[in-house]
Amino acid sequence: MNVLILGSGGREHAFAWKISQSKLLNQLFIAPGNAGTAQHGTNVAVDESDFEGIKNLVLEKQIDLVVVGPEVPLVKGIHDFFKADEALQKVAVIGPKMEAAQLEGSKDFSKKFMLRHNIPTAAYQTFVSQNIAEGYEFLEKLTPPFVLKADGLAAGKGVVILNDVHEAKRELHDMLFTHKFGNAGSRVVIEEFLKGIELSVFVLTDGISYKILPSAKDYKRIGEGDTGPNTGGMGAISPVPFANEEFMKKVEQRIVIPTIKGLKREKIQYQGFIFIGLMNVDGEPFVIEYNCRMGDPETEAVIPRIESDFLELLQAVGNQSLHEMELTISNQIAATVMLVSEGYPGNYTKGKKISKFLEVKESLVFHAGTKQSGEEVLSNGGRVMAVTSLGNTIEEALQKSFTNARLIDFDGKYYRKDIGTDLLLFFHAVR
Ligand code: AMP
Ligand code: GLY
Repeated sequence: MNVLILGSGGREHAFAWKISQSKLLNQLFIAPGNAGTAQHGTNVAVDESDFEGIKNLVLEKQIDLVVVGPEVPLVKGIHDFFKADEALQKVAVIGPKMEAAQLEGSKDFSKKFMLRHNIPTAAYQTFVSQNIAEGYEFLEKLTPPFVLKADGLAAGKGVVILNDVHEAKRELHDMLFTHKFGNAGSRVVIEEFLKGIELSVFVLTDGISYKILPSAKDYKRIGEGDTGPNTGGMGAISPVPFANEEFMKKVEQRIVIPTIKGLKREKIQYQGFIFIGLMNVDGEPFVIEYNCRMGDPETEAVIPRIESDFLELLQAVGNQSLHEMELTISNQIAATVMLVSEGYPGNYTKGKKISKFLEVKESLVFHAGTKQSGEEVLSNGGRVMAVTSLGNTIEEALQKSFTNARLIDFDGKYYRKDIGTDLLLFFHAVR
């Protein structure tokens, strides 16, 4: 098979690394990719949202299967674009159509979907500028903290959590009237605050059956001890020790099955990944959000634990024969530490020479934001490289990742040194 991966981050490098090991692979292309993906296939300078450019590439290289990494092309309808084009119709696209991508693209859509299918989530209401007064009343009735979410895609920045009701009202006003999140904020979802520990569960579905991929915990804040602004993700651990068999059974029965059945019942075809952001509230799972793609950096921790041929699984998604497949997962623990540029998630510098990453032993290095420049590899994003290690214990995995996080070097390198430490007790409690 000839495969095209769309995207340029650590998630796409992890996909490329894994797919390149498949016995089914003939040629692998990544658009646009990064310096890391180029180790496993051919990078092509086409933007992930340039549908015409992608079409030309798919036809020229006789691509059989396209894996869509990020959400933007999905929400813009890349899958629909393929199915509507005679020349592209037969190409398998891993990633849902536009309508289904609304599970991520619109908070209001996803909340209504959960309500219709009895999927546990925080109580909520949606407001627009015309009924802001009702929004103020709703806030008065809630107990703090208040959770306000811009309805549309806001690059992970559309959620604001506030303790003070006056501040919450001001924020609601700003979101609706000053367009601080652009169009994404023309509707605002206000919801009940859920107190617990977050985790991410990933599902691969062909629309008929599904496989639950390894769970992961992400570290979103820039600062140690979960402080400071939100980032795309500073690290990940898989599996999540408190997501034990009993908890995962609840997730499957109350969330995964109703989600797949709900999509089917509403005749929303879904082929691809469903990323379910969950809150564990005293042992009970609640959905915080759906995403229509894999997480980043969670993918960098999840993929190395998958022992099955990943491309075979993706092919089965395209053929709707996923029920015939087996998913084998390693018992080892994966720890991913993200190296980021100074200043991230604010303004950061790019173009710094990265050294010593070729000396890394006992860890996988997934490039997140890099580019090749002659012989050198330069930083090319806020998140630069993800270091993943597998271990029989969490300590072993963390020790390898931190050793290599220290080794790899570039000007202004920063990483969180506390990834995984909150989980140490849980890992020991479950033994
Ligand atoms: P989202 O973009 O919906 O994933 O929200 C971003 C972050 O805000 C989540 O990862 C949570 O940490 C937090 N969050 C969102 N909704 C809630 C909620 N209802 N209760 C508590 N925290 C929340
Ligand atoms: N790491 C969170 C995300 O990919 O949305």
